[in-house]
Amino acid sequence: MEPIRSLLFVPGNRQKMLDKARDVPADVLVPDLEDSVPPEEKAAARKVVAANLAGFAIRGQHLFVRINALSTGLGEEDLDAVLGPQIEGISVGKADSATDLVELDRLLGRMERRKGLPAGSIAVIPWIESALGIISAHDIARASPRIVAISFGADDFTADMGIPRTKEGTEQFYPRAAVAIAARAAGVMAFDTPFVDFRDEEGLARDCASVRQLGYTGKWCIHPGQVATVNRLFTPSEEEVAYCRRVAAAFDEAVARGTAATSVDGRMIDVPGYQRAQRILDLAAAIARRERGGAAGGRA
Ligand code: GLV
Ligand code: MG
Repeated sequence: MEPIRSLLFVPGNRQKMLDKARDVPADVLVPDLEDSVPPEEKAAARKVVAANLAGFAIRGQHLFVRINALSTGLGEEDLDAVLGPQIEGISVGKADSATDLVELDRLLGRMERRKGLPAGSIAVIPWIESALGIISAHDIARASPRIVAISFGADDFTADMGIPRTKEGTEQFYPRAAVAIAARAAGVMAFDTPFVDFRDEEGLARDCASVRQLGYTGKWCIHPGQVATVNRLFTPSEEEVAYCRRVAAAFDEAVARGTAATSVDGRMIDVPGYQRAQRILDLAAAIARRERGGAAGGRA
């Protein structure tokens, strides 16, 4: 899957919010059937979401639906209601172990057959948001080839731990890092928890910068107003790209001279420095390609 920076949640029982979300330039739109929908509205939300999916992503955003974990007894009906050619994948809350994902993978396989969808075509983004989930993060990330990314959920994580959730997020440092490293080791993307103070743009920008430095490639948004900041902070800046180009050029020159070490602005650059720069340049190029194309290449 191409690099994803922003994913916008929309409560599945709120038609007006769904209407507004369609035009928001998030990389992924995600109607939610999980925790933004109260228990008594779950059945109604399934119907609302299912009725909205065709032609929903009018800017070509990717379209995923977040479902309840299978262990809640709600997940299978959620899937049955929303699975079809309009969506590219599903996100699933509260993944505690690889077994949860293996079970989901099998269920998706059966449903794909029944609904005439290509086998293995539905992608999965699990949420890792409990102590057990953090301990199992790498096993979860590689439990199924459908998994394209894993997400860290700070609200559920702090609830599970029985600790307050702070804006600075010091209590989230370890689990966030654990999820990002597990994702990298499994070769999938890592998406960070939503920033819940949705009026605090500076706080959001700080949060994005600090998790990007942990290895996150994108972040969930709970409000359309957060999307532009998230997209900006997860796109390598012009200065960053210019610096990486200089690093790559200096390294190429050094290699041509028969040495593998050089320096840029008084800092030593050798193979890993070059590789780091190259990865940022590749990311910037993939994002630019996508922005030029306008659409994300999601399903109609
Ligand atoms: C999101 O689902 C969270 O628990 O933070
Ligand atoms: Mg959660």
